[in-house]
Amino acid sequence: KRVAILISGGGSNMVRLVQDMQSGDHPARPVLVASNDPAAAGLAKAAALGVPTAAVDHRAYRGDRAAFEAALLEPLLDARPDILCLAGFMRILTPGFINRFDSRMINIHPSLLPKYPGLHTHARAITAGDAEAGATVHEVTTELDSGPILGQIRVPIKAGDTPDRLAARVLEREHRLYPLILRRFAAGIRDRVDL
Ligand code: GRF
Repeated sequence: KRVAILISGGGSNMVRLVQDMQSGDHPARPVLVASNDPAAAGLAKAAALGVPTAAVDHRAYRGDRAAFEAALLEPLLDARPDILCLAGFMRILTPGFINRFDSRMINIHPSLLPKYPGLHTHARAITAGDAEAGATVHEVTTELDSGPILGQIRVPIKAGDTPDRLAARVLEREHRLYPLILRRFAAGIRDRVDL
């Protein structure tokens, strides 16, 4: 299976996905890492791992979401991906884009969905006084952060946690969850597994 990965920033999840695919006996291989930000630090990490990269600056399309997506689709479709992974990708995609990858697109979201779709998930969990936080890998559908859940990880929220400290605790567990889910998804397994 050919896997393309969309990032917006550091790409730590992308790095783990690529390293896992390159570690052998994996049903998928990385064919492209693309970003909406040409300055995304993850692009250099992908290149260092030998993965082709592309960047389409969403700011060049000033709010014309369809034009940005048409530009992003060019390198993406050239790579002929079977699976599209969103990993720290911070742009909302239109139904038109999502439907082109009908149920072959997955995303990792830093909350225990269905709690806290959208942004600032860790701050919201702390403010709510939740005992736990976590992350969710799910299939991407046209409704934001709402597709079938493929797996979750949970971490305790500790007294005095700041959003940054909680984010770091969740992120290191994301790095174990996402590669496992991609291996299963690429092998055609869509049953939910929680770590
Ligand atoms: C992290 O908060 C992660 O939970 C979310 O995007 C952010 C950055 O991830 N998926 P990455 O380091 O760019 O993979």
